[in-house]
Amino acid sequence: MNVKQTKPKNIVVLVSGNGSNLQAIIDSLEGKVELGSVIAVISNNASAFGLERAKKHSIDAIFINPKDFESRERFDQKLAEKIEFYNPALVVLAGFMRILSADFVKIFSGRLINIHPSLLPKYPGLNTHARVIKSGDIKHGTSVHFVTEELDGGPLIAQAELKLDENESFTELALRVQSLEYKLYPWVIVLFLQGKIIQFENSVKYNNDCLVSPLLLND
Ligand code: GAR
Repeated sequence: MNVKQTKPKNIVVLVSGNGSNLQAIIDSLEGKVELGSVIAVISNNASAFGLERAKKHSIDAIFINPKDFESRERFDQKLAEKIEFYNPALVVLAGFMRILSADFVKIFSGRLINIHPSLLPKYPGLNTHARVIKSGDIKHGTSVHFVTEELDGGPLIAQAELKLDENESFTELALRVQSLEYKLYPWVIVLFLQGKIIQFENSVKYNNDCLVSPLLLND
């Protein structure tokens, strides 16, 4: 029997801070080297702990200083150049806290994904947990989506959700959402590497054309 073999795929991850999602991704791909691996981590913040995490795993860790560039477009050009050097099948935004220019998004369209701590389209932008508590919502969670020019607005790939506990504090809620992220993001990334998730214009195609949007990760 002829089993179709594909080459392991390169992943580049962009971080601005702690990089706990990056860690979850690295750990989950450790036993799946035939699918792909994180080959480089790039940050706009010299002290991002995500860069240390990368070095610990012998992954290229690169800092690009936004102050060295006269505009967002110039910074993004440099960022795109660095990323393209690694010929990635997938570019993962994992707490990368910068708005990306239209040209950048175009270059990586279809292979650029982001995780956002809310059940999009609810609560794009910052301070999602506080806004959820203030609104008295009973559900919250996290979303993975393809990146388009619209902030936190590209086609949704998958979500994981939880029910708020009574009088739950901001810190407790943030921790619970993050622990969902550590399952959701690696799950989506493996499906993407397996060719089971494809961006199709402004929507997502799953597996054999079964269009269920978005996928929901249940415990
Ligand atoms: C994550 O919770 C991610 O959802 C959020 O930043 C955090 C990064 O944590 N991203 C956004 O808010 C993007 N809009 P980490 O650095 O520990 O992975």
